Amino acid sequence: MTSLLVPDKAGKLGDIVLGFDNVSGYQSPEYQKSGPYFGALIGRYGNRIAKGQFTLEGKTYTLAKNNGPNHLHGGLKGFDKVIWQAEPGSSAAGQTLKLTYQSKDGEEGYPGNLTVTVVYTLTQDDALQIDYSATTDKATPVNLTNHSYFNLSAGQRPDVLAHQVTLPADRYTVVDADLIPTGELRAVKGTAFDFTTAHAIGERIAQVPGGYDHNWVLNAATEGQHPAATVYEPTSGRTMQVSTTEPGVQFYTGNFLDGSLTGKGGRVYGKHAGFCLETQHFPDSPNQPKFPSTTLQPGQTLRSTTTYQFGVRK
Ligand code: GLA
Repeated sequence: MTSLLVPDKAGKLGDIVLGFDNVSGYQSPEYQKSGPYFGALIGRYGNRIAKGQFTLEGKTYTLAKNNGPNHLHGGLKGFDKVIWQAEPGSSAAGQTLKLTYQSKDGEEGYPGNLTVTVVYTLTQDDALQIDYSATTDKATPVNLTNHSYFNLSAGQRPDVLAHQVTLPADRYTVVDADLIPTGELRAVKGTAFDFTTAHAIGERIAQVPGGYDHNWVLNAATEGQHPAATVYEPTSGRTMQVSTTEPGVQFYTGNFLDGSLTGKGGRVYGKHAGFCLETQHFPDSPNQPKFPSTTLQPGQTLRSTTTYQFGVRK
């Protein structure tokens, strides 16, 4: 996703995602080096798998390691770096783009031939809906997400620290120094992770070394779509409400952006220039038996939906 035009409180359209004016921006050595995954469709596995290893049905699999000792966002050539079949169309809900990809058995170390279909829909009522589905011929972990960086000020502000965020989550997954979950689900109450009521991103970010890059455990993680986040940007009045079928959301505040990338319209992307809300199963689930399972079995169809609803507050 390279551009997303959304009206502000005066009805003026602005581009609220980070990215580049053309494809060379995504192919530059600086971009490849810093690997921010602007607007990317992430797979097979969003976030980290510890030591790039997991055991499934008695067999141990070794994945590409592309984040220190760990596997991140599908590996060296994840779904963000492959060519998808793209088919524009329309449905009752709005304009659609259908993306299809066949991931071969053994790709980046994962078992099974995986067929993935992702449909992006721009709805009549100012929402972006993403519907993911996948099937496999061998048991394999799958965790698909979208890595768009939002800045609802559409370039009015260089960082997202004034955005007010609500996350309907009483707990988050505690991580070690390499951002691998320890298995503990910790209460957010009384901490800088408590977004059960609206807080500006910048209000308590200094209490979290580096910034937010954590998975929140959504309260209403039931069947069907439930709220994942609400965001409000005071300058533009833009709002975004995220709902998902997924049990978690990685709230990442662009901590690794360091000004080395210049994006659309000559904007320099410094620290916290955008934030991501990556709806997902929890990081490292293949090695955490107590987390909701990410295993897809042959004969099953994975289905996952996330909706980003835009609006304004006047
Ligand atoms: C995710 C991860 C971060 C980082 C970004 C990409 O949000 O959790 O640690 O890798 O992707 O820079």
